[in-house]
Amino acid sequence: MKDRIEVVVGDITQMQVDAIVNAANTSLLGGGGVDGAIHRAAGPELKEECRKLGGCPTGEAKITRGYRLPCRWVIHAVGPVWHGGTQGEEELLASCYRRALELAEEHGVRSIAFPAISTGAYRFPKDRAARIAVREIRCFLEAHPTIEKVFLVAFDEEMRGFYEKALEDEGLLRAKNDRDT
Ligand code: APR
Repeated sequence: MKDRIEVVVGDITQMQVDAIVNAANTSLLGGGGVDGAIHRAAGPELKEECRKLGGCPTGEAKITRGYRLPCRWVIHAVGPVWHGGTQGEEELLASCYRRALELAEEHGVRSIAFPAISTGAYRFPKDRAARIAVREIRCFLEAHPTIEKVFLVAFDEEMRGFYEKALEDEGLLRAKNDRDT
């Protein structure tokens, strides 16, 4: 399992994987942050397709093609806005990971990259978001061998640290010089 989940620091729009996940909003019509970066890199056809999807509820995800991005699919997940943790935010974030992975599997995706959903404009605490991401991904991968690789794409070293701590706590952190065994 350790070699099926990997943390990287970088720009998710450059990931050479079958699918990348977008941290979208309920309109699916773009925004700032990673949503803006993905739409800029994909080109205008992405918004054209998104327009036909009729939005997406928080905690849910919808899939489109990747257009000018190097990936074949973009899975638009809508994370919760953090309101202190008393309004089901943790479960809604967990649901984003599950639904995105379900869609990925339905579309034959074997490699997928996630940004840190909800941890930017939506202000979800990064350490808690990292733990939810690792837990949900591990659980899904244990039951679905067809997804071979999940990248957790941190946009900065702070987020990488939170992901690595979460992996370590789950006994999934690969030693630096680990070869794929
Ligand atoms: N690649 C990878 N990660 C990125 C990139 C990028 N190019 N750009 C930003 N990030 C990271 C941020 O550093 C943060 O950790 O993505 C994480 C999510 O931050 P946001 O993009 O702000 O997303 P979120 O917090 O889920 O807020 C969603 O913001 O952009 C709008 O339309 C979007 O309304 C929605 C809201």
